[in-house]
Order: sequence, then C-alpha cells, then structure tokens
Amino acid sequence: MLLQNLSLLALALGSYAASVRPASSEVTTLDASTSKELLALHKKLVDIESISENELEVGIWLASYLKDNGFTVERQEVAKDRYNILAYGSKRDTTILLSSHIDTVPPYWPYYYNKTTDVIGGRGSVDAKASVAAQILAVMGLKEEGEAKFLRDDISLLFVVGEEAGGEGMKAFSAWDKRPQYDIVIFGEPTEGKLVCGHKGILGFEIHATGKAAHSGYPWLGVSANDIMAETLAVLLELRQHLPWSEKYGNTTMNFGRIQGGVAANVVAETSSAKIATRLAAGTPKIIQGLILNATKEIKARAQKDGGDLEFDWSGNGYPPVDIDCDIEGFEKLTVNYGTDVPNLEGDHRRYLYGPGNIFVAHSDHEALKRTELEQAVLDYRRLILQASKMEPKQQGAGKGSEQFEL
Ligand SMILES: *[C@@H]1O[C@H](CO)[C@@H](O)[C@H](O)[C@H]1NC(C)=O
Ligand SMILES: *[C@@H]1O[C@H](CO)[C@@H](O)[C@H](O)[C@H]1NC(C)=O
Ligand SMILES: *[C@@H]1O[C@H](CO)[C@@H](O)[C@H](O)[C@H]1NC(C)=O
Repeated sequence: MLLQNLSLLALALGSYAASVRPASSEVTTLDASTSKELLALHKKLVDIESISENELEVGIWLASYLKDNGFTVERQEVAKDRYNILAYGSKRDTTILLSSHIDTVPPYWPYYYNKTTDVIGGRGSVDAKASVAAQILAVMGLKEEGEAKFLRDDISLLFVVGEEAGGEGMKAFSAWDKRPQYDIVIFGEPTEGKLVCGHKGILGFEIHATGKAAHSGYPWLGVSANDIMAETLAVLLELRQHLPWSEKYGNTTMNFGRIQGGVAANVVAETSSAKIATRLAAGTPKIIQGLILNATKEIKARAQKDGGDLEFDWSGNGYPPVDIDCDIEGFEKLTVNYGTDVPNLEGDHRRYLYGPGNIFVAHSDHEALKRTELEQAVLDYRRLILQASKMEPKQQGAGKGSEQFEL
C-alpha cells in the first residue's frame, strides 16, 4: 500500500515541518483538549486491571471507545475470553499499522496522578498503556488536521493480548487467515521516546536433573539431583563468559532466574530444576543450544551412568537478535535488551519501535512516567507516521538478510 497522493503528502509534511520536536527540556505543544483526552484515556486503560490472560474487560472497553470515535472495530479471538482489537477507518488494508499490547505483568497497582510532580503511575501506565493511549490520540489527531486526513484513513490500529506472556496475541494475529495488508508497522513499547534500532534475541529454557532419594547419612545409596544441577550450573557459569557477542548488542547474558531442588537438608535430592533466560547479542538459539549441550554432555553421561539424568527443555521462547528499522531523522536511537512482539509478526513489512516511558521502571512497583512524556509521544507518533509513510516498502525477502550475526 504505497501512498499514491503525493501532493497531499507534501501538504501533510508541510504541517509537520512547522511542529518539529522541541528540545526535551521544553514543554510539549500538544493542544489542551487533546492532552485532556489523552490523560482520560490513559487513566481509564490503567484503571482496568489487565494482567496477561485477563484482558477481556479492558478490550471490551477499548473497542467501544474506538467505535465511539469513528473507527471500525474487529475482535480476533486468541483464546477463550481473550481478544486482539483491530481498528481502522474506511478501509481494512492500510499503509501503516500501529500496534501495542493491552496486557500487563502482575501484580496490579492502582492508577495515580501526582499533580505536584506531574507524574502518572500504576501498573501498565508505562508498559504499554502509555503507548496504546498515545497511538490512538496520534491517529485521531490526524483526522482533525484536515490536510493529513487521507493518512488517518490509511492507518490501522492493533492492540494485542498476551505480549508479557510469550506473545500469544501477536502470534495469533500473524497466523490469522483474515490478517489485513500493511507495509509499515509501528510497535509501541517503552523506549524513552527514542527510536529502537534493534533488540537482543532470547533463548528461554529449563534444566531438569533427576536422581534417587536416600538418607543423607548414606548418600552413596542415592543419586543427588542437586549435585548434578550444581555441576551443570558451574559449567554454564563458565560458558556464559564465552557466548557470542556483537558490536551492536554487546554481550550475550544468561540469567539463572529460578533454581529449585530437593525436599530437606537430610534427604538426597531426587529432583532439581532451573529456569534460565539467555539474551542473545549474536548467533541463534540453535547455536547457543549446541554450546550448552556440548558443555554439559559429560555431566549428563555420568548422571545417566549413576541412574540419574540431566535434561533440557527448550520449549520456551527463542529467536535471534531482532534488527529494526530506524532510518528516520529527528529521533534519538538506541538498542535494547528486552524482548518485544516485533519478531512475532512475520512478513516483509518495515518495522519501527517507539514508545513513551522508561523500561527500567516498567515491570516495577514504581512504574510511572511524566505527563509530558505521554504528550510528547502523541506528537512523536504523528511525526513517525508522516515520515514512515514516505519510505519505500520493503523488497520481498529483504527482511531475511537482516539476521546476520558475528561470533
Ligand atoms: C506528590 O509527590 C510529592 C513529591 O514526591 C509528594 O511529596 C506528594 O506527597 C505527592 N502527592 C500525592 C498526592 O501523592
Ligand atoms: C562483555 O564481556 C566482557 C568480558 O566478559 C567484558 O569485559 C565487557 O565489559 C562486557 N561488555 C559489556 C558491554 O558489558
Ligand atoms: C565441546 O566441549 C568441550 C569441553 O567439554 C570443548 O573443549 C569443546 O571446545 C567444545 N566444542 C564446541 C564445538 O563447543
């Protein structure tokens, strides 16, 4: 869907030129009525608890808000009581798709707005309901800005469920037989108002060691699953110093997030397990798997000889580093270490990632952002929309080449 009407586009860009981003210390230039609507929409979204798997209520409310504001709204069923929300103007296939997610991590924290500090907080206030609210107001504003009206009709909005828990919603959208057409996707996640040029990949996995229980006074009568686990983790501690890295993303990291084993101090442990998240700066999940299996194969062989075992469960999320387009002037650029829905949407579209708020507070008990960050995001999304709509669409297959890596 390339934009055809170039004279209208020139007009739209003219209006953009007049509102080039102010330095970050300056106040935003969002008009008072848009600001008021933005804050009210954001508050409502945060007020409705929507921890992953409980997105029904916020989705119903959002769908009716979008309908009331002139959008055509469709719901895509992802699972029982779980729906993605798709909204658009007069046509379903559009040049640009704006997308974010409506689920949050637990636990719920209520909304607050501190007028003294101008800080807005609560669960989801940053991740990602700030993006959701700013994207909607950005598009609604285009409708009012007469000359950019054609663009308003050439944009669709997608708000998915389950981003915080494996990306089920976006994966379902990606696989949808009724998925609409688009050339450019702008994803909303907290990026401190910068344009993200890529993020690390991930390999999540579990380790399961099994042994044989015995009285701790006679350990030779059993096989300790905890011993097997401890040896395995020691090898991984060493291995993680030597994992692939890249200039762009830095070092691959490996977090031992949860370790659990045995039942009591005086019992030889029968089972032991660990949950591990590896953030890939280079390489692929397959390469990392190979390194891990090779490094631990002797431990596994010994465990099996003793009547125990060591097994890896690779069924968690896995993808290589994700390169994202960031060829737009006037934005600061960065790379990030967290995962997003970007790799869950397959296709050769251009992709951008931008959103208000800071990821460092996103999953915390002090999740919050400044009102001005939220307002700036509306203006920035409009700039992104206008600038991105000028870009050539991706050539067929061009996305594949971006998965190069250095070891
Ligand atoms: C707003 O923040 C200030 C500064 O942290 C604090 O002193 C004040 O109590 C807060 N107001 C409310 C209503 O929470
Ligand atoms: C990457 O790891 C190396 C060696 O472990 C270390 O010296 C370097 O500071 C790390 N780089 C970053 C960006 O963390
Ligand atoms: C496999 O592991 C051994 C040590 O256990 C190591 O010497 C060797 O370099 C590893 N091979 C690969 C391909 O990683």
